[in-house]
Amino acid sequence: MDDKHIQVLRDLGFDLSAKEMKNDYWKKRAARALALTTQDRDVYGCLDHTVGDGVHIYDIEGTEYLDVTGGVAVRAFGLRYRPYLEFEASINDVVHEFPGMDFDAIPQTLLAERLAEITPGDHRKQVVFTTSGGRAVEGCMKSAMDLSGRRRFVAFRPAFHGRTGYALALTSSNSKHKSGFPQGVDVIRVPYPYCYRCPYGQVVDDCNLECVEALRYALQVEGDDIAVTVMEPLCGEGGLIVPPAKAVQGMYEMSKEVGAYFMSDEVQAGMGRTGKWCAVEHHGVVPDYISMGKALGGGYPLGASIGPAPMFTGGSRHSETFSAEPKVSLLSLWILRHMEEGDFLKKNAEHGAYLLKRLEELKDRHEVVGDVRGLGLMVGVEVVKDKTSKEKAPKLRDRIVKTAVQKEHLWILGSGQNSIRLTPSYVITNDDIDEVVDRLDRAISASK
Ligand SMILES: Cc1ncc(COP(=O)(O)O)c(C=O)c1O
Repeated sequence: MDDKHIQVLRDLGFDLSAKEMKNDYWKKRAARALALTTQDRDVYGCLDHTVGDGVHIYDIEGTEYLDVTGGVAVRAFGLRYRPYLEFEASINDVVHEFPGMDFDAIPQTLLAERLAEITPGDHRKQVVFTTSGGRAVEGCMKSAMDLSGRRRFVAFRPAFHGRTGYALALTSSNSKHKSGFPQGVDVIRVPYPYCYRCPYGQVVDDCNLECVEALRYALQVEGDDIAVTVMEPLCGEGGLIVPPAKAVQGMYEMSKEVGAYFMSDEVQAGMGRTGKWCAVEHHGVVPDYISMGKALGGGYPLGASIGPAPMFTGGSRHSETFSAEPKVSLLSLWILRHMEEGDFLKKNAEHGAYLLKRLEELKDRHEVVGDVRGLGLMVGVEVVKDKTSKEKAPKLRDRIVKTAVQKEHLWILGSGQNSIRLTPSYVITNDDIDEVVDRLDRAISASK
């Protein structure tokens, strides 16, 4: 961190100097001050918030990393993307203390209209803006309960939809998030279509959609008064799993059979990451509800619950104080336009295909790489003991991630019990991808 930014901290009343810019020092302070659930301070350094560009991120000791997390799918265009910063500087004088809850302002209306346009389906839609992905999920859940008069939900295992209230009730990706906390709503849970580990021992090409039949059975024996089936179009936190289109279609049709709505949680997979605005488009399904977040706000807290208009009976019944204030709405509109002008949907599909192809080489080379899968720039690598047994290898996965970060300076994240997740920013190039795969290759070799 340079003197200017250290001085900013000093001006804020903190007596800091360059000698305190050490990872261990700040990790200790952070561990005392912050209560964060899934963070592993053993692996990652303390990030320098003042430097970085594109897919290059730095810790406070000046170590440069190649970032393939994209801030867990938050940074569409990477760190400090110049055109974005210029646009942001140009709107610094807008009034941004206009909470969107009770009063209208032009930017949030334009953003709602734009989201209705880019999401699947020609039906009339409405939007509730939120400050997080979890709350975007909850906005859809409340609307579905209100419109259907029903109170129960279908969700999957694994699944991640948030850590609060109703959304937490749908989540099942890591017991850390859930155990000890009561379930906020009634959820019927069935296995996510996970073909590499099909619980019914089937092969995707000629299966009879036993996963959909499992939902039928669950609805028959547990009751079918379902408000909405909530599904990730790609399971992100739960292990980066790509469901086959026919299974998603089957879940959709089964939901419709019992009069339930269907919702695609696009918080991680949406915003063009997979090469389509919404990942559910890959599956040929038009959902009733869509939740968005992460990259939607360009690094600022913004989520959106998108549903059929009107979303609530008898006037709207859900909002948040800080929802889509003008500055963040303008930034979001800029991102959507820039994605179109820069043809980023196509680029993401192409770069993602290249990344998958290169990762296939790792699968051929390493017995412990059981599966690689993904759509666009949302890609996973499943780590196993060996390809024959497919036994999950969570400890080996953790060692690979640690080696990748600390020795190869590849800023990477795990996902689920034994997978590695690659969700880079949309500015990644094929040269960067080659570098990512080479570093991961060495990390796997060194960790076995
Ligand atoms: C699919 C999905 N839904 C919801 C959420 C929750 O978003 P947030 O952490 O912004 O509440 C996430 C976060 O990772 C997610 O991946």
